[in-house]
Amino acid sequence: MSEKEISYAIETINMAKKIQLKNNQPLSILDDITLQIPQGSSVAITGASGSGKTTLLGLLAGLDAPSSGDIKLLGQSMLNLDEDQRAALRLGQVGFVFQSFHLMNNLSALENIMLPLELEQMHKDPRAMAKEALEQVGLSERAGHLPTQLSGGEQQRVALARAFVNKPKILFADEPTGNLDQATSNEIEKLLFQLQQNNKSTLVLVTHDEALAEQCQIHHRIVAGKLA
Ligand SMILES: Nc1ncnc2c1ncn2[C@@H]1O[C@H](COP(=O)(O)OP(=O)(O)OP(=O)(O)O)[C@@H](O)[C@H]1O
Ligand SMILES: [Mg+2]
Repeated sequence: MSEKEISYAIETINMAKKIQLKNNQPLSILDDITLQIPQGSSVAITGASGSGKTTLLGLLAGLDAPSSGDIKLLGQSMLNLDEDQRAALRLGQVGFVFQSFHLMNNLSALENIMLPLELEQMHKDPRAMAKEALEQVGLSERAGHLPTQLSGGEQQRVALARAFVNKPKILFADEPTGNLDQATSNEIEKLLFQLQQNNKSTLVLVTHDEALAEQCQIHHRIVAGKLA
């Protein structure tokens, strides 16, 4: 399918996530989720703790499979894809940022950013790309630092550089400022939107922060596993 024919970055149709608990009781986590996320848009997902935000993000990203309904990622239905096929679809198309930065502690800032490029095995000069990404988040001077030698805000900048280094079509962020103070959060938010625009990515952002959600073009609220 050509790029033009894909109108949505993500589309879900009556998607549900139910699991079977150990005592055989079914538990409904998400129900009847139908939504469209246009390419290049910014989308906030808010809701109370336990409402299903992280579960939804995992489904939208193809990390997890729904128990019913369908989801199309970049125009491709994930209905009949197994885990390996979903991973192949994500490769080079999808980036992630988490609340707890998820950097590799034994790798330097620069090496952390190079890692996804090296895993993709399709880039000529991962080091040069990583250097440029580090520069874009204002951390060139910290290239050789290990994560433990960086502040929380700096670690999240490295995580942002790593997430955007391969210019993902879709960037998923789960509470990316949840572990940071207000001033640092504001900087990270600015950087996140800036990187989204520079890379023309679609941004799907889970947050507790209503002010941050209002900065997004689309705002979905989840209440007890359903879109409000
Ligand atoms: N594997 C699982 N087994 C059992 N229950 C689960 C599982 N995964 C999630 N849940 C439950 O599903 C609900 C939604 O979880 P989820 O992590 O998506 O919430 P959330 O909205 O991201 O919350 P928070 O804001 O606290 O991060 C919660 O009640 C959680 O306990
Ligand atoms: Mg969560």
